[in-house]
Amino acid sequence: MPRKLYIRTWGCQMNVYDSDRMASLLAHHGYERTDRVEEADLVVLNTCHIREKAAEKVYSELGRLARLREERRRRGEDMLLAVAGCVAQAEGELVAERAPAVDIVVGPQAYHRLPELLARRARQRGAVIDTDFPPESKFDELPREVAAGGPSAFLTIQEGCDKFCTFCVVPYTRGAETSRPAAAVLAEARRLVATGAREIVLLGQNVNAWHGEGPDGRTWNLARLIRALAEIDGLARIRYTTSHPRDMDAELVRVHGEVEALMPWLHLPVQSGSDRVLAAMNRRYTADDYRRIVDALRTARPDLALSSDFIVGFPGEREEDHEATLRLVEEIGFAQAYSFKYSPRPGTPGSVMPKQVPDAVKSRRLAELQALLDSQQRAFNAATVGRTVPVLFERPGRHPGQMVGRTPWMQAVVVEEAGVRVGDLVPVAITEYHPHSLGGRPVRPH
Ligand code: 5AD
Ligand code: SF4
Repeated sequence: MPRKLYIRTWGCQMNVYDSDRMASLLAHHGYERTDRVEEADLVVLNTCHIREKAAEKVYSELGRLARLREERRRRGEDMLLAVAGCVAQAEGELVAERAPAVDIVVGPQAYHRLPELLARRARQRGAVIDTDFPPESKFDELPREVAAGGPSAFLTIQEGCDKFCTFCVVPYTRGAETSRPAAAVLAEARRLVATGAREIVLLGQNVNAWHGEGPDGRTWNLARLIRALAEIDGLARIRYTTSHPRDMDAELVRVHGEVEALMPWLHLPVQSGSDRVLAAMNRRYTADDYRRIVDALRTARPDLALSSDFIVGFPGEREEDHEATLRLVEEIGFAQAYSFKYSPRPGTPGSVMPKQVPDAVKSRRLAELQALLDSQQRAFNAATVGRTVPVLFERPGRHPGQMVGRTPWMQAVVVEEAGVRVGDLVPVAITEYHPHSLGGRPVRPH
């Protein structure tokens, strides 16, 4: 009887990728993934530490799981609890102190050691903690036969960050910036395409800083890697996320105009439109630098749509800074965006800066910013109505007969009883828009 593994994932797409890799690793050790937590012999919580709210959720989940485990024990079964991801890395032993039910705490760079940690847990009392940044790369240790879970697949090419934005925990939880070699990336991409992927989303905390060893022995940049990926037969779409404006070099901008498979969509977090706040955040660009980068991108690829991240209420942010952010948003026009209240994170420079902004002010500024961003997203979606656009179908919808896919601009498209299958890439006439999706009809060639 295979043992059952339940994984719950919070946070970014890289955590989704890591969860899949943990599942495939543990499959080699007799674990079968389940989506029913009650029957799990091993539960892995893959956690996020980026904002306080995300981190706190882990502890309430652990409380629930501890009770569930008691029930299982009364039935003579057991349940191992592992905390992985960035909370594990940032809090280490503290996790096991706050939640004594935890058996294993493992950081994002050490999870290839999970089988060994499970074995150690069986031998010793108390939690096993591994938050090392091991000298070996987990990518070299993990099973190689990754399979695409669907037509759109994630592929981590870069991890960690050396930018040290003053609000951010990533340089501490994920460590220094590292790039996987091009050959490893290309091999994984080919395997993903061979197992059904038609779109690959390249992942990295700072993905456009990728500079990996090329098969020719030279150092490649992301532009070069994208050109090589575009040669793979059957790979129709390439995306990459998340990028830092500082690493948006001229060659990468050019690739947006030249590589057809590279989708006209870019997530390029700006965080703020105020130079004073950007400096305090240590972002190392100005609002005008950002405008210039966007201009260059739009010159290269006129239909490029932008997505972004914003933080309101960073320490010292005044009303005029907030207005500068609103102005920047108005000028650029974003197709989609995430915005957050600043959350002071332990150990980051921002958390001890003077002039922390009161929560009520943060809430008001966030509401204003989100109203503007929402109206831009609605306008962007509304402008798609009446057009025929290529849609890659990714999964069945919630209702029978429905299929859901994406446009090149990441908009979700729902069609009804349309005879399309998962993996089809077909033109769809867009007939309507909703807050978070579009509706339409596939156009059949006569
Ligand atoms: N508080 C609020 N938002 C944050 N982000 C990162 N750190 C914090 C923080 N301390 C946001 C940034 C980043 C996104 C992934 O999360 O906007 O781009
Ligand atoms: Fe965090 Fe991104 Fe800044 Fe790196 S570039 S410190 S990951 S916000």
